[in-house]
Amino acid sequence: MSEPLLVLDNITKNYGAIHALKGVSFSIGRGEVVALLGDNGAGKSTLVKIIAGGLEPSSGRMLFEGKEFLARTPAEAKAAGIETVYQDLSLCTNVDVVANFFMGREITRKVLGIPVLDETAMEQVVGNALANAGTRIPSLRTKVEHLSGGQRQAIELNRFVHWGGKLVLLDEPFAALGVEQTRRGLDMIRQVARQGIGVIIITHIMQQAFQVADRIVVIRQGVVAGDVPTNRTSPDAVIGMITGETLAGAGPAAEGQKRGPVQEERTI
Ligand SMILES: Nc1ncnc2c1ncn2[C@@H]1O[C@H](COP(=O)(O)OP(=O)(O)OP(=O)(O)O)[C@@H](O)[C@H]1O
Ligand SMILES: [Mg+2]
Repeated sequence: MSEPLLVLDNITKNYGAIHALKGVSFSIGRGEVVALLGDNGAGKSTLVKIIAGGLEPSSGRMLFEGKEFLARTPAEAKAAGIETVYQDLSLCTNVDVVANFFMGREITRKVLGIPVLDETAMEQVVGNALANAGTRIPSLRTKVEHLSGGQRQAIELNRFVHWGGKLVLLDEPFAALGVEQTRRGLDMIRQVARQGIGVIIITHIMQQAFQVADRIVVIRQGVVAGDVPTNRTSPDAVIGMITGETLAGAGPAAEGQKRGPVQEERTI
């Protein structure tokens, strides 16, 4: 087996007297989608912020592509290929899609020896990237403020892939999206993963986790309470791990006896 993309080794985080993470260890491979589940306050966002350089852990270490790596800032994480994709926080709403895609990396050409933006070339790159991903927006010259949350997310994710991102973190990415946009978002995540990118997604919707993830990692009170391949567990078993009623890794058979039928969709 190839080496994991990211290894978390005994990560802890204290906020003063609060022990938010008490020693979290798990890994994620290239092209793998991991759903991070857990109750409110379990420590999911704290963990994701630590991975993306937004928060310093109290102790523990991280290996990224086999090398010890701990980002001190989000910019440092981004430079290494690790990024959190928000619905709209990191796009500039008052400029268009192309400008957002190329922010800080614009293509220029020389006119009479003076560099000017090569808008046609940039439009082509963005147009191809979005078309390849099956993302539709009214026009590449639409200002981001006129796009929906799902469209913004699509642009962010495509930009991340285009610029060589390796591990993307999504903290409840579909919280404000409708059914159709959520479905498209989930499809897009699978497509991103097929390109070898690792994806960690936090969600409270059990059905989404089962739809999109290869593996489910459950955090409970700052520790890993379960780490199981999605196809070897069930929503009921995962609920048990979240609430602490089952031991980590207990299979669907054991759980099925204790609980009723699996519901279509559950919010935890
Ligand atoms: N900046 C902070 N200062 C102090 N305590 C914090 C801070 N951020 C989080 N915590 C605490 O750390 C614990 C874990 O919080 P975290 O936000 O990581 O949980 P979460 O699993 O993302 O929850 P949710 O599902 O509600 O988003 C909680 O007890 C929370 O109150
Ligand atoms: Mg959170």
